[in-house]
Amino acid sequence: MSKVFIMDHPMIQHKIGIIRRTETGSKDFRQLISEIAMLMTYEATRDLELRDVEIDTPICRTVAKELKGKKLAIVPILRAGLGMVDGMLSLIPAAKVGHIGLYRDPVTILPVEYYCKLPEDCDQREVFVVDPMLATGGSSAAAIQMLKDKGVKSIRFICIIAAPEGVKKMQEEHPDIDIYIGSLDERLNDHSYIVPGLGDAGDRIFGTK
Ligand code: PRP
Ligand code: URA
Repeated sequence: MSKVFIMDHPMIQHKIGIIRRTETGSKDFRQLISEIAMLMTYEATRDLELRDVEIDTPICRTVAKELKGKKLAIVPILRAGLGMVDGMLSLIPAAKVGHIGLYRDPVTILPVEYYCKLPEDCDQREVFVVDPMLATGGSSAAAIQMLKDKGVKSIRFICIIAAPEGVKKMQEEHPDIDIYIGSLDERLNDHSYIVPGLGDAGDRIFGTK
């Protein structure tokens, strides 16, 4: 069964408190989503493996550490996942970035695919799928299936706000994928929006409503 990590770091929790507020405008919302994504990436990469490497400092030769193992890729689910990319790249600047375009049909609430462009070698990479919102879980489960269909074996999912319904769907459909969550909220409402949530993440990032 996948592991679920809920980030209890006070800086993450404080910033999530601000993005939930109705009065937080797009400029601050975007900035905070990026900062939260950076902090969550810091937490979600704490188990990456290191190896020893011999280096020269200006003073002497010594043994330092460097990351070993698979290279990383970030795959945001469009649109709202885009808001997390810059913050993540500030921590892992060498990561490649792929894009998966999905939107929820407003009537059926099912994800509709409209774009997929991934790094050529993504099946050799450890892939971080990112989306601020995990509601019914339809979009993230579909995105992860698209990656698995391309042969990607190492996948983690990072979201800022999750509903229990979405976590359950992810665990049922992708029990091999670990999930990193900023806040696990109460439930979904009748329109499948997260309660208390923050509203529509894409609209708030891009100011479209
Ligand atoms: C939002 C959000 C997720 C999805 C979550 O995107 O960014 O991708 O909904 O809902 P789910 O877990 O029920 O699938 P949306 O479909 O609104 O598209 P957008 O980012 O383009 O606005
Ligand atoms: N998508 C969002 O942007 N917000 C929700 O609460 C649910 C899905």
